[in-house]
Amino acid sequence: MNKCEIITIANQKGGVGKTTTAVNLSASLAFKGKKVLLVDVDPQSNATTSLGVHRDEIEFYLYHVLTGSKRISQIIRKVSIDNLFLAPSNIGLVGFEKEYYNKKIQGREEILKKRISEIRSEYDFIILDSPPALGPLTINALTASDSVLIPIQCEFFALEGLAQLLSTIKLLKEQINPNLHIKGFLPTMYASQNNLAKQVLYDLTQHFDGYMFKDSNKQNLIIPRSVKLAESPSFGKPILLYDTRSNGNIAYQNLAELILQQGA
Ligand SMILES: Nc1ncnc2c1ncn2[C@@H]1O[C@H](COP(=O)(O)OP(=O)(O)OP(=O)(O)O)[C@@H](O)[C@H]1O
Ligand SMILES: [Mg+2]
Repeated sequence: MNKCEIITIANQKGGVGKTTTAVNLSASLAFKGKKVLLVDVDPQSNATTSLGVHRDEIEFYLYHVLTGSKRISQIIRKVSIDNLFLAPSNIGLVGFEKEYYNKKIQGREEILKKRISEIRSEYDFIILDSPPALGPLTINALTASDSVLIPIQCEFFALEGLAQLLSTIKLLKEQINPNLHIKGFLPTMYASQNNLAKQVLYDLTQHFDGYMFKDSNKQNLIIPRSVKLAESPSFGKPILLYDTRSNGNIAYQNLAELILQQGA
């Protein structure tokens, strides 16, 4: 039986906390003893850098896997947390998008899914960080996934674009990946003293209460705005190696715990 769960972190809006969530959720699940692979599906390669892997160190990365010159097992590397592995990215991954549009290859939405299927059974979780666009890379990530976790920054315009994302997910579910479901909406960078943030959270719960992550007290799980979370990537570390006691670390540990409970 294949117990691995594949989760894409997606929102075509930029800078909403996708990479921060992908990195820290992966690290938290690994810390709890699960074997986790983080796949960096973004040419910006922020997830790769956030785990302390420098761009110039990488010879082969996701581009080579998607274009067939390397197997995914040949690019996967261990990082500084036990049980956590990374399939890195680099800016050259943009080349895949160009080729994708040029060659109308059949089944081109399923390339990443096929590559991941070679190693899927070796992991408990595979987390995919996606770029801020609903282009070929995000479509490949969603096609390869069992579920999608959507970080939402608690600011004005937060809900803009959400309808488009939800309709893309619905379409993919109908046409390519019937298993795809929404894991949950994750409010990020929440500042409790900010009235606008409160309003956005309120609107979210009014319209999408069923999609919110709830803790054991039925409270919405949110990721607080945290300087430590913003600083940790510059040290090439997930928050749990940078500041264990920060509320950002606690929030991502809670998210990992909820996801483990949901799976049970
Ligand atoms: N909870 C938080 N508190 C404070 N800063 C945060 C938090 N989450 C993310 N950030 C910071 O906000 C910025 C954007 O976050 P991140 O890179 O995770 O977003 P993204 O959605 O992956 O962006 P992109 O769309 O460009 O890929 C980064 O500088 C990050 O360090
Ligand atoms: Mg990102």
